Amino acid sequence: MPFRRTKIVATLGPASNSPEVLEQLILAGLNVARLNFSHGSPEEHKARARLVRELAAKHGRFVALLGDLQGPKIRIAKFANKRIELKEGDSFRFSVTHPRDAGNQEVVGIDYPDLVRDCGVGDELLLDDGRVVMRVESSSADELQCRVLIGGPLSDHKGINRRGGGLTAPALTAKDKADIKLAAEMELDYLAVSFPRDAADMELARRLRDEAGGKAWLVAKIERAEAVADDEALDGLIRASDAVMVARGDLGVEIGDAELVGIQKKIILHARRYNKAVITATQMMESMIHSPMPTRAEVSDVANAVLDYTDAVMLSAESAAGEYPVEAVQAMARICQGAEKHPDTRRSSHRIGNTFNRCDESIALASMYTANHFPGIKAIICLTESGYTPLIMSRIRSSVPIYAYSPHRETQARVALFRGVETVPFDAAALPPEKVSQMAVDELLQRGVVTKGDWVILTKGDSYTTQGGTNTMKILHVGDLLV
Ligand code: G6P
Ligand code: MG
Repeated sequence: MPFRRTKIVATLGPASNSPEVLEQLILAGLNVARLNFSHGSPEEHKARARLVRELAAKHGRFVALLGDLQGPKIRIAKFANKRIELKEGDSFRFSVTHPRDAGNQEVVGIDYPDLVRDCGVGDELLLDDGRVVMRVESSSADELQCRVLIGGPLSDHKGINRRGGGLTAPALTAKDKADIKLAAEMELDYLAVSFPRDAADMELARRLRDEAGGKAWLVAKIERAEAVADDEALDGLIRASDAVMVARGDLGVEIGDAELVGIQKKIILHARRYNKAVITATQMMESMIHSPMPTRAEVSDVANAVLDYTDAVMLSAESAAGEYPVEAVQAMARICQGAEKHPDTRRSSHRIGNTFNRCDESIALASMYTANHFPGIKAIICLTESGYTPLIMSRIRSSVPIYAYSPHRETQARVALFRGVETVPFDAAALPPEKVSQMAVDELLQRGVVTKGDWVILTKGDSYTTQGGTNTMKILHVGDLLV
């Protein structure tokens, strides 16, 4: 199978719990398994994680594990009769004092004491991902009185957003704090923070992760209107994270679908500019929950995210609860590979005209420039401790594969998210220095990636163990005696 650069994140759930399905997902090309902490017990997540790691190892694959924190999704309480039906023009109230289990046709309780403070007359509230829309007409100390603009069914615990954002719940709940510890215990590779407002939310998550002894790289889910209000807000959040997710579900509700595509493109561009990985998520293959093939619109959506140069595309309910989880991964893999043939994915003017900040960054970008302009180069070998050097390399559009050589399990898994990067377990520090180049190239010869006469780029530092130490780029001729 040809090398696929764009990575696939798939959410695990009831539809993908069995070892058989999981094994097929991995064989179909799953790169990152997402554990959704909004559902399921710690024991279930641990069992899933164990199985993913076992099956990946069995097939010599490298699959990263991403835990996704539930976050402060604001929800209504319950109805006495589970659900109501609202019509356009109805009046309806949200109350912070109404009994939690006794909503009715006129009023429902809500577990968010600041609701009245955060909302004003004229604001639009969106329920159940925007299926029901209301406008606030008046408010009192403990409730909002609203008029229904778009009616529909409303049932227990549905989520509530405000158009334009601005509900100020802190990003990390007590459950999230417990799940950060769980993620550390499970040695997860990535941890996604839901609804971060700004860099401070990510810094808090980072501190809690450190205290828990976790190593997971932090993913900021971009899903609040405030986070994309201007470049300063967005860039601040991106810089405080290791990777970002374009979380189109809640983001689309808050900013409106008309703005979504432009914002998606901007988030991907800015993430790459700041040397961060980026995942494009939500409803990418939605119809495949019930259908074995995607719609043309879904094909186009995935392909366009690939052309935007996202690192990864993500499946949510399609793989967690759908009827065709394996077909969904297969379809994504196929569409990504098709889109990657487009010449736009190979040409780059990334950061031309910018200054670079670091030595390793300069070497990484010089390597990519060389790879893209010297046709003989068939692969890049990047010796890495943490995955940082190949991360920078993979910000640049290219068709040359990047091989991240590392002895560390964490790094081997982490780079599974990066576009165009595959890992090769390799311990350069354990070899005589004069043997490193030869042995590194031999790995690719054995795999059939390169043959005699090809050229290969190799990057490294002076010591074989220093993170951030990359200062050397070599161009090697395969078949020559290499030192
Ligand atoms: C490996 C190489 C070193 C290099 C390091 C960079 O350990 O052998 O020479 O300095 O990777 O690691 P980084 O985490 O910065 O990509
Ligand atoms: Mg969300």
